[in-house]
Amino acid sequence: MIDRRGFMMASLAGPALAATASPALAAPAPAALTLPCVISTWDFGIAANQAAWAVLSKGGRALDAVEAGARIPEADLKNHSVGRAGYPDRDGHVTLDASIMDEKGNCGAVAGMEHIAHPISVARRVMERTPHVLLVGDGATQFAMEQGFPHETLLNAESEAAWREWLKTAKYRPVANSEVGTYGHGGAAAPLGVPGGKSNHDTIGMLALDAHGDISGACTTSGMAWKLHGRVGDSPIIGAGLYVDNEVGGATSTGVGEEVIRNCGSFLVVELMRQGRSPQAACEEAVGRILKRKPDAKDLQVGFLAINKRGEVGAWAIQSGFSYALCDGHKQDGLLASGSAT
Ligand code: GLY
Repeated sequence: MIDRRGFMMASLAGPALAATASPALAAPAPAALTLPCVISTWDFGIAANQAAWAVLSKGGRALDAVEAGARIPEADLKNHSVGRAGYPDRDGHVTLDASIMDEKGNCGAVAGMEHIAHPISVARRVMERTPHVLLVGDGATQFAMEQGFPHETLLNAESEAAWREWLKTAKYRPVANSEVGTYGHGGAAAPLGVPGGKSNHDTIGMLALDAHGDISGACTTSGMAWKLHGRVGDSPIIGAGLYVDNEVGGATSTGVGEEVIRNCGSFLVVELMRQGRSPQAACEEAVGRILKRKPDAKDLQVGFLAINKRGEVGAWAIQSGFSYALCDGHKQDGLLASGSAT
């Protein structure tokens, strides 16, 4: 654990460290937060953390905090990888995935849900008001409407224009797994940059520890742009995109969900922490497992973010460019660059 000054310096030095990171170098110094605290993926996590902090700073529950936080990017009309303004699948459907998990191990999720702007809140209703964990597709939408969520057209003009532009050159061909790095959500056919990269990063994953030391997590995304209709990524899969255990800590992921699902990524990170690894070492091992099993995954992006019960934070990604936002009583708008394996 580094001290407060070390954290502040790491905040400033993070981007430079990440830019020069290599597998042989030690990871950037991980942050240690004081309780209550909240962390989340990407730069848009800063605004999400503020909403979560409004709950945590008043002594509120971590579960309420992560739901409130995740709703911020879900509502952001400029965010095309989460929520109502998410880019559609190749057929023009905006389909949303989300999961939520609390300190008791309760969890809920929705996948491939259309027409409902706040999947994280529907996921919470699944957790609290049904005997189930995961609702998908039309069933998820039906449940959300029964719960009073408004049925809306989510595809906005900007997202539709981007999709129509993609259609001009995409030839609508299915995405083979081996092509994921160059087609489907990146590459020449879809000018969004590297999948999971800066201009096509996806998913807010959020982890909070409240003043009682209880942990909860949330994860929400519109998934990969131009995905096959029906494709579901890691975000709504408990143990893949999100996992928390109140004895240990929590983890969440971003990037190409297929690689995270194959390796039960977030569950793996939490189990490694249970065995004594720091959050940083656990995230690095999880990325290493992906690359060991499939070396070609070096061309994709996957990032893990984790926190243990002491407020120690870790993050690691396949490629540089992954950032994460931190918030506690000392600093509410921290942003660090993750180190990376390549
Ligand atoms: N990580 C989000 C997705 O793959 O859909």
